[in-house]
Amino acid sequence: TGVLNTLAQSIGKKYFGSATDNPEFTDTAYMAILESSEFGQITPGNSMKWDATEPEQNTFTFTQGDAVVSIAKESNKIVRGHNLVWQSQLPSWVSSGGFTAAELTSVIQNHISNVVGEKSVNAWDVVNEPFNSDGSYVSDVFYNTLGSDFIPIALTAARAADPNALLCINDYGIEGSGTKSTAMQNLVKTLKADGVPIDCIGFESHFILGEVPTDLQSNIEAFTALGVVVMITELDIRMTLPETAAQLEQQKTDYQTVVSACAAVDDCVGITVWDFTDKYSWVPSTFSGQGAACPYDDNLIKKPAFDGIVAGL
Ligand code: XIL
Repeated sequence: TGVLNTLAQSIGKKYFGSATDNPEFTDTAYMAILESSEFGQITPGNSMKWDATEPEQNTFTFTQGDAVVSIAKESNKIVRGHNLVWQSQLPSWVSSGGFTAAELTSVIQNHISNVVGEKSVNAWDVVNEPFNSDGSYVSDVFYNTLGSDFIPIALTAARAADPNALLCINDYGIEGSGTKSTAMQNLVKTLKADGVPIDCIGFESHFILGEVPTDLQSNIEAFTALGVVVMITELDIRMTLPETAAQLEQQKTDYQTVVSACAAVDDCVGITVWDFTDKYSWVPSTFSGQGAACPYDDNLIKKPAFDGIVAGL
């Protein structure tokens, strides 16, 4: 039997979870761990993104998303919906733009009312990665057409589609204090002041070995003080390959540091790793020469990082 979700819940967290992805569902050894009590929550790595759910305008395909929801239901887990509005993995009919502000508002509202309306998930990443590292907004079809109004438009549509789901904004590079974290905090303040529904901030937490922000806990607290909960949503800690025993020990320490920071704050409510095994990590294909970022190795064997998570809970 698994320990991670049980330990997380024993200290008042809602869950310990993992990302997963549909191509992995044929791997029976992988599925035995994913579906075990080790995890109380799953996030679809790709299958609820816009290109997967509305590849052509007003044509919705939820086969893959439904498969994730089925696995969660059968194995007694909650689901994080990921994600609704993001510049990446958009179908070309959206990314190529050419919309008026009114048209794009309808496009966002229609996407959200259909995708969210069909799904019962615990929390949605309604807006994903809105900021550049300097705290300015990413220049994408949403911002360029609507300015920052796309954010309240999306959050309001999500609340209308599912009054019960937690509505989040998710980003990376906000885990430590700094310009980008401040920009996100200012956005939360503005949304709250304007009465826009915003319940949570996702700290992606794609870290580099030895570079976990030292002020992670106080930065979590800076957000929870604004009246939102925080989730660690995409945790992995990458290193230069090939990994050494010393690197894996440092990784254990780093995982413990991250998990402890969330554990210490009541309103940091859950932790999700961006898949539990190096076998299916996005890291090697995204960051050249980097990998070994997850708590289980390529052979689905627990690494020291697993014990670091346990120690942090
Ligand atoms: C990644 C997936 O893991 C990959 O399979 C895909 O090719 C690209 O996207 N931030 C996010 C996630 O919010 O959606 C990204 O997931 C990783 C970075």
